Amino acid sequence: MCGIVGYIGNKSAATFLLDGLTKLEYRGYDSAGIAIFDGQNVFIEKAVGRLDALKEKLKGRTPEGVIGIGHTRWATHGRPSDQNAHPHTDCHGDFVVVHNGIIENFMPLKEQLIAKGHHFASETDTEVIPHLVEEFYRGDFAEAVRAVLNRIEGSYSLVFMSKKHPDTLICAKQDNPLVVGLGDGENFIASDIPAIINRTRRTYILNDGEVAIVKRDSVSITDRRGNAVDKKIFHVNWNAEAAEKGGYEHFMLKEINEQPKAVRDTMSKRVVKGGDRIVFDELNWTTEFLNGLDKVYIVACGTAYHAGLVGKFYIEKLARILVEVDLASEFRYRDPIVDDKTLVIVISQSGETSDTLAALKESKRRGAKTLAVTNVVGSSIAREAEQVVHTWAGPEIAVASTKAYTTQLILMFMLALYMAQLRSTVSEERSRELIGLLKKIPAQISETLSDVEPIKTFARRYGFNEDVFYIGRSLDYDVALEGALKLKEISYIHAEAYASGELKHGTLALIVEGVPVIALATQKSVYDKTISNIKEVKARDAIVIGIAADGDKEIEKVVDHVMFVPDTDELLIPLLTVVPLQLLAYYAAITRGCDVDKPRNLAKSVTVE
Ligand code: F6R
Repeated sequence: MCGIVGYIGNKSAATFLLDGLTKLEYRGYDSAGIAIFDGQNVFIEKAVGRLDALKEKLKGRTPEGVIGIGHTRWATHGRPSDQNAHPHTDCHGDFVVVHNGIIENFMPLKEQLIAKGHHFASETDTEVIPHLVEEFYRGDFAEAVRAVLNRIEGSYSLVFMSKKHPDTLICAKQDNPLVVGLGDGENFIASDIPAIINRTRRTYILNDGEVAIVKRDSVSITDRRGNAVDKKIFHVNWNAEAAEKGGYEHFMLKEINEQPKAVRDTMSKRVVKGGDRIVFDELNWTTEFLNGLDKVYIVACGTAYHAGLVGKFYIEKLARILVEVDLASEFRYRDPIVDDKTLVIVISQSGETSDTLAALKESKRRGAKTLAVTNVVGSSIAREAEQVVHTWAGPEIAVASTKAYTTQLILMFMLALYMAQLRSTVSEERSRELIGLLKKIPAQISETLSDVEPIKTFARRYGFNEDVFYIGRSLDYDVALEGALKLKEISYIHAEAYASGELKHGTLALIVEGVPVIALATQKSVYDKTISNIKEVKARDAIVIGIAADGDKEIEKVVDHVMFVPDTDELLIPLLTVVPLQLLAYYAAITRGCDVDKPRNLAKSVTVE
């Protein structure tokens, strides 16, 4: 996720670009840059860090100019740095581009371009784009852009500028948002409405495959072949704050709804075309490396720790390697049994959590091999670990983690399957079956998100209870832990998760008439046992809300209400069952009037011990 802007008109481009980027900083903030055509040359300035660093660099030397583009970055390919910040140019600085997304086939394209003599200045996937424009340009800017769009694969929103065509900006979209704002003698381009809402409310919201040719006084839209598209103007009637949250009331709800895309992006490039293998370009693991390990240690905090519990299940089940999971704050002081035959995997959305970072350093000190799973390129944890694999969730703003968790799950699943393939511990047939189901997960999450009314009703009905219990077995238990944490942290309801089989060892004493129990019952291998446990709490007059897979006929007979999720393999279903639990926590917090995005006593990134 990144933020992009463009301006063409009769006023200062720099003013709009910097204002717009400020509004888009929630989309990425590790570096920023602008390019402005000053009448003769294209002036480019970039700076690593927050947008303020760029503003500081521009002080007293902001160029005059009425056409320009800008970018605020959330790094994917290449660490945050001045060189990797956008805009990027071709060899001669004739074509300038800003990009939000991932170009999946950039490697072969880059190799071909280098073979033709192109020089690259950054580590980004984006830079192939201006070089390709240079390659295809024969005098018609739009034609060259379309030729590029037909060569690149992946997701993008793009804005192109050229000093050869100072009266035109071209933008295009595939799987990432882009809006064109219509002014009077001026037009605007942005990733998102907040960037333009102070200037205009008349917009074109571009669809996938559309290309807009934007001039001072006109905007024409075509498809990628150049055929004209007839588009209706969309009048924005949200206020600026709502616009920043994409029309959602809170960042948390926005991020819950971004999960299909976040999961799809995290899968992208890692599922080989044809669908029978997982690859991690970032890792150079071999069968010998994995066979030389005697255990894996997963270390993390909070929600990331819960993802680690699921990761343990995946790696043990698929790759048949012993996995320990520990809380980073415990691990670092435990005198852990870790040596050069241990692979320590740390999971951290922010990459800055102090306990996790300390655990990572301690593991290295003891000689372990280390791998970081993190959402933030260039974070302290990403820099400290020997190897890194990223989740591509984009910035997570709400304190309660949602899309980071689901991307961590999908990543741990792919990692486990990758390890299993190297160790030949899953058959090709099973591998193909799992990858087939994996690819359906984003659409199934969307389906789960499509009907929130029953969840709102439960939240209204039970949102004022003081205690809620979550039960489940196997992976259902791991998801129950995450569901309970979500409810606690944003609604302040006391919530506990228990492995269903443990109830009789103590907790059953707390189950009395009217206590809500959320029972996850999706693990087919322990289904009958789970149903028996549900009957135990029902016998104590608890109110049971079951979470089950579509097609489950038994569950309705034993619970008070059921929330169904689409059916899939029991290994993958945590990606679906967690969604109603996130929504339940969200709507319970709303019912109780809590500040969802900023829960009391909590901070997004815990950089203290
Ligand atoms: C809960 C939550 C926290 C974080 C934890 C670790 O919703 O967000 O429990 O998961 O503080 O943070 P990271 O993943 O940034 O290391």
